[in-house]
Amino acid sequence: MSTLIIRRRLISWACPSIIIIILLVFLLTRKHISQQEVHFRPYDPQLFDKIKGSIFEGFDNETGTKDGTLIVPNHVHFLFFNSGRISYVHAVCVLAAFKNQRPEKIFFHTNVKEFTGVHWLKIKNTLGSVLEIRNITLPNEIFGQKFSKNYHLWHAGDVTRIRILMKHGGIFLDNDSYIVRGLDVFRKYEMTVGITDGPYLGTQVLIANKDARFLKLWLESYRDYNPDSWYYNAGQKPMGEILIYKPELVHAEETLLGVHTLSERLYIWDRWENWRTYYSVHLIVRHRNYMDTMWNNFWWPELDETNICDYPKPFGVMAREIYSDFCPKK
Ligand SMILES: *[C@@H]1O[C@H](CO)[C@@H](O)[C@H](O)[C@H]1NC(C)=O
Ligand SMILES: *[C@@H]1O[C@H](CO)[C@@H](O)[C@H](O)[C@H]1NC(C)=O
Ligand SMILES: *[C@@H]1O[C@H](CO)[C@@H](O)[C@H](O)[C@H]1NC(C)=O
Repeated sequence: MSTLIIRRRLISWACPSIIIIILLVFLLTRKHISQQEVHFRPYDPQLFDKIKGSIFEGFDNETGTKDGTLIVPNHVHFLFFNSGRISYVHAVCVLAAFKNQRPEKIFFHTNVKEFTGVHWLKIKNTLGSVLEIRNITLPNEIFGQKFSKNYHLWHAGDVTRIRILMKHGGIFLDNDSYIVRGLDVFRKYEMTVGITDGPYLGTQVLIANKDARFLKLWLESYRDYNPDSWYYNAGQKPMGEILIYKPELVHAEETLLGVHTLSERLYIWDRWENWRTYYSVHLIVRHRNYMDTMWNNFWWPELDETNICDYPKPFGVMAREIYSDFCPKK
């Protein structure tokens, strides 16, 4: 046996393995580092004083209203900032909310003067008088602290969703949150939230009465704003400084709101029937394209109304079930 062959074999095994190991180490340490950076303040009684005298004092987060009365309006809120072009996937999410939640109103809170394109027409025609556009401006600061440049759109959107819910109440959805089945079961609670990786608060699907105590404390917690972290004020701090001490402020639906990472099931697995058991699924769609390149043996361009017809992953089923106008009829 020549040492040459052995050496060649070693190399052919070693190269991919080394790449995989480097990748793993990179991913693991990155997660580790981002977790290490999170610091929480100890229990702050003054913060919790802010909700004294609330109409929800003593509210039961497990049973909801005593007689099952619904106290969250059947209104869905979306934010669309800066771009009047509604992508195919965003349209799927708006249409899924319409079809599966059957809301009385769907609000687009936006700073866009005019929406354009086929998906906008589809939404406008399908939703009819259920759709209402509300003008809104993107805030630049919170409690006198300027939003960071890098995360401006995100952080301003995070704060805006709290304010929208404090003003109107209802169901707030990220523009890539897909409603699978009715959320009415949660409309008898003061506020319902999902839990994302960490575990931290998931902000992508929020169901709240406008007077929910947690909303007030969450907004208040922005007095200590961290501009350098994408998710600190949105999801980490409210968990580490509020809900950890008073979990009774919300009804936590730990998995079935689908706000934790489900991307491998949506975009890598060949089959995933279980999505139907969820109430909603956050698509994290901006992370799909590199997942294809990294894990699937194919590359797929941005999902649109025509290439969705052949998209072979579980999200293809979900999307086509809602909006497949451009696919050949079977
Ligand atoms: C969709 O939401 C994301 C995150 O909030 C935001 O960055 C993006 O601009 C939104 N898309 C549109 C078209 O507004
Ligand atoms: C929103 O602003 C636009 C102009 O920017 C105006 O034409 C429209 O009437 C406003 N809509 C509402 C509901 O106020
Ligand atoms: C309700 O609040 C209690 C604390 O009083 C907490 O232990 C429980 O997990 C909460 N239930 C839900 C569904 O969030």
